[in-house]
Amino acid sequence: MAPHTTADRAAELRAEISRHDHRYYVLDEPEIPDAEYDRLFRELQALEAAYPELCRPDSPTQRVGGKALQAFVAVRHQVPMLSIRTETDIGPGGARAFDTQIRRELGLQATDDPIDYACELKFDGLAISLRYEDGLLIHAVTRGDGQTGEDVTQNIRTIKAIPLRLAGTAPAVLEVRGEVYMSRPDFERYNNRQRAAGLPTLLNPRNAAAGSIRQLDPSVAAKRPLSFFAYGLGETRGWELPSAHSEMLDALLAFGLPVSAERAIAQGAEGLIAFHGAIAERRTALPFDIDGVVYKVNRLDWQRELGFRTREPRWAVAHKFPAQEELTVVEAIEVQVGRTGAVTPVARLKPVFVAGVTVTNATLHNADEVARKDVRVGDTVRVRRAGDVIPEVIGVVLERRPAEALPFTIPTHCPICGSPVVRPDGEAVARCMGGLHCRAQRKEAIRHFASRRALDIEGLGDKLIDQLVERDLVRDLADLFSLDSTTLANLERMGTKSADKLIAALEHAKTTTLARFLYALGIREVGEATALALAHHFGTLTALAAADAERLRQVPDIGPVVATTVQAFLQEPHNQAVIARLQAAGIHWVETAVKSPTDGGLLVGKSVVLTGTLESMSRDQAADRLRAAGAKVAGSVSKKTDYLIAGRDAGSKLEKARSLGIKVLDEAGLLALLSA
Ligand code: IVH
Repeated sequence: MAPHTTADRAAELRAEISRHDHRYYVLDEPEIPDAEYDRLFRELQALEAAYPELCRPDSPTQRVGGKALQAFVAVRHQVPMLSIRTETDIGPGGARAFDTQIRRELGLQATDDPIDYACELKFDGLAISLRYEDGLLIHAVTRGDGQTGEDVTQNIRTIKAIPLRLAGTAPAVLEVRGEVYMSRPDFERYNNRQRAAGLPTLLNPRNAAAGSIRQLDPSVAAKRPLSFFAYGLGETRGWELPSAHSEMLDALLAFGLPVSAERAIAQGAEGLIAFHGAIAERRTALPFDIDGVVYKVNRLDWQRELGFRTREPRWAVAHKFPAQEELTVVEAIEVQVGRTGAVTPVARLKPVFVAGVTVTNATLHNADEVARKDVRVGDTVRVRRAGDVIPEVIGVVLERRPAEALPFTIPTHCPICGSPVVRPDGEAVARCMGGLHCRAQRKEAIRHFASRRALDIEGLGDKLIDQLVERDLVRDLADLFSLDSTTLANLERMGTKSADKLIAALEHAKTTTLARFLYALGIREVGEATALALAHHFGTLTALAAADAERLRQVPDIGPVVATTVQAFLQEPHNQAVIARLQAAGIHWVETAVKSPTDGGLLVGKSVVLTGTLESMSRDQAADRLRAAGAKVAGSVSKKTDYLIAGRDAGSKLEKARSLGIKVLDEAGLLALLSA
């Protein structure tokens, strides 16, 4: 038998590990490093192996263990598991209709106070009922038909956010209802790992949650990173219920159950509308999928008074958001040729309204993606658009595939120039080998050259570039500077005025920086940061062009691939000729002395973020000057940020900087910093 002190130690370890699980999986505030956690876990495992009588069902070592089942056992719900009514009007009218109805059913007068509503998120996963008896998790059941569900306890036990034992003084019986879900980062990580191992991926987070819980073998669920949020109650015994729904959720939280912090008490219809709007705005920033919000009458005595319809409570309603995902049909799959020759398959879709915009195209990324998703012309596909992200085809509805649909293959020759399309071994991207001979690549190269962060040539838009290339007026970048006003004025949609403007813009663009010029050349692998590093390190184009790959690798952050690419580009005779002609046309910059990271510059090594509107210069210009002074200009505020420069109408970045205690400067402060 285990000595008394050993039993104590096992109990201590169980409590300690459960507490760390809660901190990690529910509060997202781990207290100890993973290695320390593993040590505690192994110590408990060793004790339980040596003294099997110490093993308890609520031991954290017992989350996975059960064998695969033959079938799930049906369990009758003591309190039916209800569904929720969905308001049909997704606008503010929906919230008003609900409030009006509740006030009427409660017999309230117009002069009575606004009603308090508990507002929550509508999680998109699988509804589950957890039954705790004397604090111990006894079983977990799906909703099923609302009366009878399936016992999925073995799978639910693998979810670390769900306590196997409740904290504090637990009621005799507590049934908790909530949603099992998979967070988007967990979903992406899981799929990336699967993809890397050549294994099947999950379709979407919602399916991932539902599918994992419905597996008979609990080791499957154990490998899936699932989470849980509680939002309601089933049967309870030996517990004096609080008087409001919101307080009941607070109590569940105190029992150690995960309850989303994204909830609020709203007053009346206007309060509901404000909550709906605030969440809709933050929807894509949430780490998990929701399809709307839920409003519940907060007073539990009123909930009881309002009661139920057949399958739904009268006191709650779901108020949805526009769908982020829709079904449509692939009318064609075409390929686009990018600046570096990359051949990207694009699905042309039957127009469909998704999350507020009409979508007609969706990227298919590359040949691997098309093969993996097996998207074919004629297929019905699920299209997603979240926030500002490019619309994406998530998957095919195989049941609706026409019999004659054929698999798509990347063309062997460029549809634009006819050059071979080559996909190097081990690379996902196939490329047209035509180089600047390929009109598609030439157009993209010019577009990039003229873009705001490159030479910033105003008035050189897509339509104009198309004409210049199609009519062979511009064969390479240097040709841009031999264009004359008359030729330009004769092009479609042009006139003397816009022609003159463009000539002036080209003239203006001739004064630039070495970093911008290098970036504008569109060398593969050379983004803004690399261009800047090269310019800083070498100071002059002559010095850079003379460097071999060895010397290039001495530049911070430049690896062997980039070094070889840059060297090859600058050695290529055609590129050399274009660069020489660009310089002959008048492109110039101030040659800076080579700066070593140690000498001077108040800003060397400092990380700066710009936000809001500046008066004396654009944000891009400010960024250029900061970089020239040695600073790193970052896009978002983090603990590593040294300064935030806040112009007019600064918003969330300013708030974040203040909350992190980061030094905030106004425009005058920026100018002082630059002149220091
Ligand atoms: S309450 C008695 N609250 O939406 C009311 N449901 O019917 C029962 N859902 O089956 C539901 N988030 O799976 C409630 N905050 C939330 C919810 C929520 C998601 C799900 C639940 C339910 C379905 C719709």
